Amino acid sequence: MSDDLTGSAQSLPRHIAVVMDGNGRWANKRYLPRVAGHKAGVNATRRIVENCAKAEIEALTIFAFSSENWNRPVEEVSSLMALFITTISAEVKKLNKKNVCVSFIGDRSRFSDKLQDSINESERLTKDNTGLHLNIAANYGGRWDVVNACKKLLVQVENDEISVQDIDEGSFSASMSLGDCPPPDLFIRTGGEQRISNFLIWQLAYTELYFVDTLWPDFSDEDFDTALQWFAGRQRRFGKTGQQITTELVQEKN
Ligand code: IPE
Ligand code: IPE
Ligand code: MG
Repeated sequence: MSDDLTGSAQSLPRHIAVVMDGNGRWANKRYLPRVAGHKAGVNATRRIVENCAKAEIEALTIFAFSSENWNRPVEEVSSLMALFITTISAEVKKLNKKNVCVSFIGDRSRFSDKLQDSINESERLTKDNTGLHLNIAANYGGRWDVVNACKKLLVQVENDEISVQDIDEGSFSASMSLGDCPPPDLFIRTGGEQRISNFLIWQLAYTELYFVDTLWPDFSDEDFDTALQWFAGRQRRFGKTGQQITTELVQEKN
């Protein structure tokens, strides 16, 4: 559908957020251990990063490990930690060559020193890159993010740097993870579940939500295009009426 038919002002998302779900079920279907699903998931992650860079999307935020995922069996958690270390060291140089700027969001203090070192090094190496901004959510929880922002602001009040009156939606957003990114325009969740699972609960307030049954390791270039096409067909109203949006678009074009 064209922009004219849908009244959509913005056909390409600036920022995409993804819950990469379904690795375990992908492995189960093949009688493989769950970690095989996580390894296959890395290939799908590489594909979406390339596709976002190619489409000149500004930012991609991916959910790699939630604050609740520590509740998984110990063996699965340790194989995921090992996979993070090998994947970061194998991928970061390639990402750097592609001008991708890598950042991690979440509480990294619970990770091993080795994993924290590779996280810090990947951020240091890519920090001046001007291409796709890849945010990796690791030991991330949306509720943690809100509480963390409150703490940051309260410390500033305590130190007389700001007053309580300075706390508004803008300063709150800026204190949260991704404070320097526009909020996600498109949220994609694979694996068939229709929930947020404590991902970016504040930042997703006006995001278009796209759920697909495809398991993450199977998420293909075509699936990505389909999600973009679905997004282009949305009319984002932000509380206004559809008629207002259409009128504004006509005025912008003239
Ligand atoms: C998502 O896939 C990856 C992580 C949570 C690390 P899952 O491991 O949740 O896969 P399913 O939902 O069990 O299939
Ligand atoms: C969300 O997936 C976290 C990641 C993809 C990293 P989960 O599979 O952990 O979500 P729930 O627990 O089923 O909601
Ligand atoms: Mg899951």
